[in-house]
Amino acid sequence: MGLSVVFLIIFLYQLSCSSSIFLCPKHQSISLLKFKETFTINPYVSSRCYFRGQKPYPKTSSWNMSRDCCLWDGVICDEMTGHVIELDLGCSRLVGKTDSNSSLFQLSHLQRLNLSWNEFHGSHISPEFGRFSSLTHLDLFYSYFSGQIPSEISHLSNLHSLRLYGTGSLRLIAHDFKLLLQNLTQLRELDLTSINISSTIPLNFSSHFTTLRLGFTGLYGIIPESIFHLPNLETLGLSYNYKLNGYFPKTKWNSSASLMKLDLSGVNFSDNLPESIGYLTSVHSLSLPNCNLRGPIPESLSNLTRIERLYLQDNSLNGTIPSGMFSRLPSLSRLHLSNNHFSGELEDFKSNSLEEIILGGNQLQGQIPKSIQNLENLKGLDLSFNNFSGNVDISLFSNLKQLLGLSLSYNKISLSNENKVNFTWPESLNLLQFAACEVKELEFLRSANQLLVLDLSHNKIQGRIPDWAWSNGCH
Ligand SMILES: *[C@@H]1O[C@H](CO)[C@@H](O)[C@H](O)[C@H]1NC(C)=O
Ligand SMILES: *[C@@H]1O[C@H](CO)[C@@H](O)[C@H](O)[C@H]1NC(C)=O
Ligand SMILES: *[C@@H]1O[C@H](CO)[C@@H](O)[C@H](O)[C@H]1NC(C)=O
Ligand SMILES: *[C@@H]1O[C@H](CO)[C@@H](O)[C@H](O)[C@H]1NC(C)=O
Ligand SMILES: *[C@@H]1O[C@H](CO)[C@@H](O)[C@H](O)[C@H]1NC(C)=O
Ligand SMILES: *[C@@H]1O[C@H](CO)[C@@H](O)[C@H](O)[C@H]1NC(C)=O
Ligand SMILES: *[C@@H]1O[C@H](CO)[C@@H](O)[C@H](O)[C@H]1NC(C)=O
Ligand SMILES: *[C@@H]1O[C@H](CO)[C@@H](O)[C@H](O)[C@H]1NC(C)=O
Ligand SMILES: *[C@@H]1O[C@H](CO)[C@@H](O)[C@H](O)[C@H]1NC(C)=O
Ligand SMILES: *[C@@H]1O[C@H](CO)[C@@H](O)[C@H](O)[C@H]1NC(C)=O
Ligand SMILES: *[C@@H]1O[C@H](CO)[C@@H](O)[C@H](O)[C@H]1NC(C)=O
Ligand SMILES: *[C@@H]1O[C@H](CO)[C@@H](O)[C@H](O)[C@H]1NC(C)=O
Repeated sequence: MGLSVVFLIIFLYQLSCSSSIFLCPKHQSISLLKFKETFTINPYVSSRCYFRGQKPYPKTSSWNMSRDCCLWDGVICDEMTGHVIELDLGCSRLVGKTDSNSSLFQLSHLQRLNLSWNEFHGSHISPEFGRFSSLTHLDLFYSYFSGQIPSEISHLSNLHSLRLYGTGSLRLIAHDFKLLLQNLTQLRELDLTSINISSTIPLNFSSHFTTLRLGFTGLYGIIPESIFHLPNLETLGLSYNYKLNGYFPKTKWNSSASLMKLDLSGVNFSDNLPESIGYLTSVHSLSLPNCNLRGPIPESLSNLTRIERLYLQDNSLNGTIPSGMFSRLPSLSRLHLSNNHFSGELEDFKSNSLEEIILGGNQLQGQIPKSIQNLENLKGLDLSFNNFSGNVDISLFSNLKQLLGLSLSYNKISLSNENKVNFTWPESLNLLQFAACEVKELEFLRSANQLLVLDLSHNKIQGRIPDWAWSNGCH
């Protein structure tokens, strides 16, 4: 009696443990080890991962037969069958080639495959990738594959996320791009940045899309308006496709509640910014430089209360800068409006969050607002090449302890140190441009001793250059 209970307990114990001790089928361990052996580990590879907050390390180094393969670093198995369902070798310092005969393709149950941030120079993306029919996540980002992306990629009809960054010379032919969008109806995330597609943008986008990054892909033609209406879209990047034109929807965008990041740098809109941009109330980052935008900034832009960055430089926008830009955007830190046709006077700055105010190359006039002295987080201020006038006392900048760069060149201002306050520039300061600012003496620069760039041309400085000036900036 007692004995059989003990046997039963031992039996149950073995049953429960066997699933973790003898989970991995032997042929699967062999496939993984063969795959490991096609690569070398290079300690200099994957170092870009640090910039992404990831620590690279060679996960495959510890793979060996003394442990069940389901316990190997980067390997996850199905608990019932023991099949490898996830292989995460991102940032693993791998260098080598994968071919169509790679043992990787024997792992036919994979659901997630991550080989990003390694170096597979000279490898093509094999058509065999198309056989991973259970794959939901394929991440080959920044891994130096080259050549043409096989059309078999669009067999992966369960894919939720496809990330391929075109280091080197990855191509996707227009027909396969269309097929991919048409057939991968579950896609949420598609990143094809820097891959040569050179095609128009097809119309078939799954309504599931949250992230679409197609910058630097040579796309041309017109952006289908339907993209702006994808109801779940959070990130849209179509930057630097110079032959791409677009029109903003004039009515409320269906993505307006979800869209957080919009980067259309360099896309030709040749139009005004519509009022409807004010509906994008979730937007954190709006990048529309060099978009051939004209006309005024719509008042509704001040509705974007979550915005942290706003890049509208290098357009033909005109009119005054709406006061709401400086007062109603509590999170705005970067405001780049340089090289447009803005005119009129600046309103007072009230958003303490401002770190960069870049307004150079416009036709702004009047006094530089005194309220600038309250922007204690300010790092960069560029008001150069405008029509600002009046006396500017250097003490205006004495509270700006974070300042890195200050440019006031080519206005109609006289810069002076009338108040003779005991003025010190912050340690961080490395750029000062005061060309044509009626500067008469250098004393106010004495404490600026970390400068990398100093422009005092076209001023009224006379006499001998003080000795301290030669040592400043030479540390
Ligand atoms: C096998 O891998 C384990 C870690 O999984 C490691 O401790 C051991 O040193 C490895 N053995 C060999 C021979 O590499
Ligand atoms: C792949 O690995 C990299 C590096 O660890 C990581 O940043 C990325 O998010 C992973 N991709 C997916 C789809 O999980
Ligand atoms: C794959 O085939 C190539 C030749 O096409 C060969 O050089 C290589 O060793 C093979 N790799 C494996 C893992 O069998
Ligand atoms: C499209 O996806 C289906 C499965 O949903 C698959 O059977 C078919 O082969 C795919 N077509 C292409 C051209 O990839
Ligand atoms: C992209 O590919 C097309 C042909 O497919 C080629 O004409 C063009 O030069 C390529 N563009 C770049 C930037 O490599
Ligand atoms: C793709 O778009 C075309 C043209 O709008 C349409 O006829 C077709 O039904 C769409 N296909 C899918 C799968 O949505
Ligand atoms: C936007 O959403 C509404 C409501 O869901 C829908 O009726 C309309 O067709 C959508 N518009 C576009 C252009 O997708
Ligand atoms: C931008 O689009 C407008 C209108 O379609 C066109 O006239 C202009 O030439 C385009 N500009 C560039 C640089 O392609
Ligand atoms: C912007 O907000 C104001 C109220 O603050 C509202 O009346 C207006 O409709 C909004 N405009 C847009 C385009 O969201
Ligand atoms: C802005 O530019 C347009 C032409 O694009 C012009 O008609 C309008 O008068 C300009 N507005 C101002 C305030 O300069
Ligand atoms: C600059 O401002 C002055 C007045 O301070 C004005 O007379 C002049 O027309 C303005 N110049 C430009 C180019 O706007
Ligand atoms: C200016 O401040 C420095 C240190 O903060 C001090 O050493 C110096 O004596 C002061 N000079 C004047 C003129 O107050």
